[in-house]
Amino acid sequence: MNYAFAERVNHMESSAIREILKVAESPDVISLAGGLPAPELFPIQEIQEAYNHVLGANDPSVLQYSTTEGYLPLREDIAEKMKEKGMHVSPDNILLTNGSQQGLDLIAKLFINPGDLIAVEDPTYLGAIQTFYSYQANFLTVPTDKEGINVDALETAIKLQQPKLIYLTPTYKNPTGVTLSLERRQHLAKILAKYNIPLIEDDPYGELRYSGPVIQPVKSFDTAERIIYLGTFSKTIAPGLRLGWVVASKEIIAKLVLAKQGTDLHTGTLLQRTTHYYLNNSQIEKHIETIRQEYGHRRDIMLKELKANFSGEVSWTEPSGGMFLWVSLPEHFNTVSLLPKAVEAKVAYVPGAPFYAKGGGLNTLRLNFSNSSPLQIQEGIKRLAQLFNK
Ligand SMILES: Cc1ncc(COP(=O)(O)O)c(C=O)c1O
Repeated sequence: MNYAFAERVNHMESSAIREILKVAESPDVISLAGGLPAPELFPIQEIQEAYNHVLGANDPSVLQYSTTEGYLPLREDIAEKMKEKGMHVSPDNILLTNGSQQGLDLIAKLFINPGDLIAVEDPTYLGAIQTFYSYQANFLTVPTDKEGINVDALETAIKLQQPKLIYLTPTYKNPTGVTLSLERRQHLAKILAKYNIPLIEDDPYGELRYSGPVIQPVKSFDTAERIIYLGTFSKTIAPGLRLGWVVASKEIIAKLVLAKQGTDLHTGTLLQRTTHYYLNNSQIEKHIETIRQEYGHRRDIMLKELKANFSGEVSWTEPSGGMFLWVSLPEHFNTVSLLPKAVEAKVAYVPGAPFYAKGGGLNTLRLNFSNSSPLQIQEGIKRLAQLFNK
């Protein structure tokens, strides 16, 4: 049957790469492709205890409908956490969401009319491109280098093309692992105030720092309330919880609450109550430190192995945190057409091209170092080197 789908459905694309990567899920393929945390580090016992406690208290409200904004004591916890990052916000500035991906969708729902121009880094997070594109946005891409987005190029683009919104992952970014420098953060906050333009700061990886200085979120320099900040427990506790938050002005939060009501009324009550208990009755800082140690070690192994197996024609980023690094092969390589061959050789990566909102990057690829064991990383890089050096 021919269904009369809405026009926006034409903007929801399935990805050929995703289909190939499904094959890579077979246990004999070393997958450096996904963006998954290490499952062996999930605090499964503590989460179980938290669920037991919350359900064992004989309080039926843990299974009841609740407010769209989210459980106040959990928003208070998050507001405290945000203060440590230099953001002086109250629980009224916070909305709890089903992961930061829902935050992105709600913000898109609030701001984007068909044809609106959104400024993004080149390359940027694929999930954000997909969300904005599904609301029929157009993209303005801004180049990045070792210090993150080129803020002068962004200012020129703002002057010439007046994008409606900017989307940025400034810290240990997906897909490249690059971090925006302190100077550029300060400069960026001034530009946002000057041109009165909102920016989404997506920060799922900020806690995963392995080397280099602590750099506060751009939002901590945002005196003019132009930034909508997205946080998540996906990388520090577990992505299967589906719990994130938005930090924004009260005016924006009020509108996001309306948008969320139409989507799902509220984030699960039991999940929120359990996470609040977990945060207050476990050693979350110690847990995050364990993750940092392990991922930092895996990053070092991947970097060492790349160095040992590739010549000067191949370059890669050296991230101070996060879960990914980014490899650039000589220009004539096409990592999309090489992917099936890699999967045949029992190793998988994500080709870089889909992370470019307006095309390009065919010679690039993203590698994940958080989800594979050190031995798998060593073997996986050797397999890739054999393939690319052929
Ligand atoms: C940059 C970025 N934003 C958002 C998300 C979605 O995260 P969540 O699990 O909080 O929805 C991801 C997930 O990998 C991501 O890399």
